[in-house]
Amino acid sequence: MNVFITGGAGYIGSHTCVELIQAGHQVSVFDNFCNSQPEALARVERITGQRPQLYQGDIRDADALTYALKDSQATAVIHFAGLKSVGESVQNPLAYYDNNVVGTLRLLQAMRACDVKALVFSSSATVYGDPHQLPIPEDHPLSTTNPYGQTKLVIEEMLRDVHRSETQWRFAILRYFNPVGAHASGLIGEDPQGTPNNLMPFVAQVAVGRREFLNVWGDDYATADGTGVRDYIHVVDLALGHLKALERLANHTECEAINLGTGVGYSVLDMVKAFELACGKTLPYQVAPRRAGDIAACYANADKAERLLGWKAERDLTAMCEDGWRWQRANPQGYGQI
Ligand code: NAD
Ligand code: WQD
Repeated sequence: MNVFITGGAGYIGSHTCVELIQAGHQVSVFDNFCNSQPEALARVERITGQRPQLYQGDIRDADALTYALKDSQATAVIHFAGLKSVGESVQNPLAYYDNNVVGTLRLLQAMRACDVKALVFSSSATVYGDPHQLPIPEDHPLSTTNPYGQTKLVIEEMLRDVHRSETQWRFAILRYFNPVGAHASGLIGEDPQGTPNNLMPFVAQVAVGRREFLNVWGDDYATADGTGVRDYIHVVDLALGHLKALERLANHTECEAINLGTGVGYSVLDMVKAFELACGKTLPYQVAPRRAGDIAACYANADKAERLLGWKAERDLTAMCEDGWRWQRANPQGYGQI
């Protein structure tokens, strides 16, 4: 299959490029590098022996998209391109609506113009808001507490509307829980710009000496040890979920939302302990007040992915931490050291 990947140079995109190439697919990447570097694609080539065809451009640029879609002879699209910082979206909601919602609208228009009607979309467990049921099934009511999450909800609704009006479209809406870790080669991984917002990149930077200590945002939640519980999923398992979703879309004309998580929740302190084991160091932390907008616990009911895609996460917490540490140790400044 010729697969067109928006945001393919990013964290999840680069890992998905590797798995698709290794499964024998042709991969093209469309990225403006606003949160990634071309080096990630050079690393994909080092792992797979193939460099994805690169189209540098912005998904809001309809002409550039249409050209690239035609030129790549794509038959399906995986759409990762988007902004993803919750805090930034509260500060600058218009930038998020513009990039994520307008960008996806332009992508769908370009796909229709090129008669490419299969799309795998990166949604998020953030669309479940503060869940009232755990583990969370896909039919849990949708809500959100911030503009980033709102863009994911709006896009999901847009895809459902498009599918209702033109039923030949094929959509897989993948709701990721908390992606962590890196490719086992240590060549690609997460490379956040500035201070990481997410737990595991922060922990990894403490381990490598870039940060002094971790702030644990709250230890008075109604969880076993009082710290927040999440469903951490190895990024390679997540990438493989995209491969399975693409394979399913080849035979199904549908619009399905599917959780990609492990179904297991770990606390912040569980994650710190697991990373300490992986890196062989004690990681200093201090308990700080709760972070605004955080929820106590969030983990997936992952049955639908197994039923529809024949997929389930296989890499455990040890692999998540060991692979994440291998990447961080070998690339203490991320791709930036190059
Ligand atoms: P990332 O920032 O590493 O990757 C996104 C990529 O998209 C980057 O390469 C960036 O340069 C590119 N991009 C952004 N806006 C663009 C635009 N207008 N035109 C062209 N390229 C553009 O993020 P990621 O962690 O790989 O996330 C990928 C997707 O998954 C995002 O849509 C994100 O919202 C979603 N998601 C991520 C997480 C997570 O925790 N990482 C969780 C749930 C959902
Ligand atoms: C995990 C846990 C924190 C940092 C966010 C987005 C979500 C999705 C994934 C894209 C929580 C605690 C964190 C730190 C800490 N992204 N923590 N100290 O909040 O589950 O989800 O990223 O779609 O939309 O909201 O992930 O990694 O930020 O936090 O104690 O320095 O770690 O309080 O309990 P979260 P996270």
